[in-house]
Amino acid sequence: MRQARDSGISTNGLMAFAGGVLVALVASRLMPPLVAQAAGTLRAQAGRDPFDALAHDHRVILSLLDQMEDSPDNATMRRTQLLLRLKRRLAAHALAEEDVVYPLLHDRAHEEEDTRRLYAEHADMKMHLFALEQMPKDDPRWRARVGELRALIAGHVHQEEDVDFPRLRERLDDRATVRLSGSVQREKALVL
Ligand SMILES: [Fe+2]
Ligand SMILES: [Fe+2]
Repeated sequence: MRQARDSGISTNGLMAFAGGVLVALVASRLMPPLVAQAAGTLRAQAGRDPFDALAHDHRVILSLLDQMEDSPDNATMRRTQLLLRLKRRLAAHALAEEDVVYPLLHDRAHEEEDTRRLYAEHADMKMHLFALEQMPKDDPRWRARVGELRALIAGHVHQEEDVDFPRLRERLDDRATVRLSGSVQREKALVL
């Protein structure tokens, strides 16, 4: 009897513990995006425009590419670090655009052809990143490949900032812009 009661208590304890772990796990997955979304909303309310935030990412990404191009062939550690930083930045940025911005561009601004081209260019960027990762960092062809990626990204960024983002911005009212800002921050928080 005593044994059964003990084992009952211990099972309950175990279940409570497992429940606690589950809650903690769920919280750890959900909280950063929720906090980021709240922060994103506050920033937007304070005047931070989601398109300006994306343009800021572009400057950071292009600057990392410049540093990669300027690095000498023997700076293999630096090249590895810069490539990792670029991958991380680009992954967060691309996630926000692919999951939130481009669908709006497609559905609200009706830029179907441009949207598909932007998605395709992100895929091309990922193939360049893969090649740069695979290649020995002191390979003389490494810099040329960085140059190709930079040219691709510079053209892509120009298209986004000068053509597609302004078209989408025109279609969104203040409320939708604030919502977009929060969504962009939430997506980026999944990676950063
Ligand atoms: Fe993009
Ligand atoms: Fe972009």
